[in-house]
Amino acid sequence: MENPFVFSKEVGGEDFCNRKKEIKELSGFVRSSQNVMMFSQRRFGKTSLIKEVLKRAEKEGILTVYVDLYAVLSEQQLVKSYSEAVSNSLLSKTEKAFITAGKLFKQLQPVLTHDDEGKPVFKVDVDLAKTIPLLEDVLDSVNRTVEKKRKKAVIVLDEFQQIGQFKDDRVEKILRTHIQKHQNISYFFMGSKKHLIIDMFNNTNRPFYKLAAPYPLKKIEKLELVEFLLEKFKKAERDIDKEIASSIVEICEHHPYYVQYLCYIIWENTKPGETIDNEKVTEGINVLLDWTSPTYEATWGLLTTVQKKVLETIARKAEEERMFSADVINRFGLGTASALQRSLKSLIDKDLIDKEDDNYTIIDLFLKKWINKKLIR
Ligand SMILES: Nc1ncnc2c1ncn2[C@@H]1O[C@H](COP(=O)(O)OP(=O)(O)OP(=O)(O)O)[C@@H](O)[C@H]1O
Ligand SMILES: [Mg+2]
Repeated sequence: MENPFVFSKEVGGEDFCNRKKEIKELSGFVRSSQNVMMFSQRRFGKTSLIKEVLKRAEKEGILTVYVDLYAVLSEQQLVKSYSEAVSNSLLSKTEKAFITAGKLFKQLQPVLTHDDEGKPVFKVDVDLAKTIPLLEDVLDSVNRTVEKKRKKAVIVLDEFQQIGQFKDDRVEKILRTHIQKHQNISYFFMGSKKHLIIDMFNNTNRPFYKLAAPYPLKKIEKLELVEFLLEKFKKAERDIDKEIASSIVEICEHHPYYVQYLCYIIWENTKPGETIDNEKVTEGINVLLDWTSPTYEATWGLLTTVQKKVLETIARKAEEERMFSADVINRFGLGTASALQRSLKSLIDKDLIDKEDDNYTIIDLFLKKWINKKLIR
């Protein structure tokens, strides 16, 4: 029997737990052509969720385009990814057979080829000297199609914070100018680097200032996750009671990726019909820490001594303790308040910690567990 838990790729269908409220709210934004800035920490389920929303939008006759900007480092790559996503999603199957994707654009010339599995896909070559006019071409193309087909569209720009890393903000300015004119298109700007994406939309000096409704993706409700686990384990011939399933969800702080990862390991380490108890869960946590520790070691190795101390302090300090209280600074030997301030900023920039209302937390909960385990050795 196959392991029923999935943690290394987007999930959909029966591997996708709940998020009914989010699907309803986000679908509402799509129908009313609102722009949304959705963010959360890494592996929280943004992409899986938005793809569920897109599936529903398609059923309602709304055109959908999903662009993954994760690997986009330049304006040229942006135009390539964007125009390929547009040509591959906006043409229906019949249109693909009879119309060349070139008709979508004024200047861009997509070429129909085949991917590794033999499926027809459009590829685009982008002339470096013309990236800006070509970007405008791709932005206008969707709006033209929307007007011609008298439809609405939703365009998802996943890992949008990448655009904010370009050497200047000319692309942000062009995007803003066009997006504001598109009455029947809902844009979803998604980000997993919270401090970067929030700055793009919250900083008065940046082109995207208040251009989209902020939508922080929250945790999945505990009960929903517990039900999801009970069902999955039952179908896959493992015995587990509600209490143990609840403790797995709590240990993983409702983080869907870690819930799935830990359950994947626990399932692998139990036999059909066997009961999952606390011991199996602890064993699972240790295996997970063993598997992830090389990446944590590598991250750790690149930190300065003060940064390491700060992370250890955050991992150990009580929830309600403030980083800047004289007591915490002295107790953990953090040097001066200004050195501490610098380290905190660089840990935020490295996406290792998050700051909310003056309280600092380690983003990756298993990194926190790894540090705590190291401290008691
Ligand atoms: N609704 C869900 N139900 C069950 N598992 C989920 C759900 N959402 C996310 N997961 C788990 O989290 C993992 C990551 O999901 P996904 O790739 O959608 O997150 P993401 O926030 O887009 O991640 P990244 O920040 O890496 O882009 C999935 O492989 C799955 O294990
Ligand atoms: Mg994602």
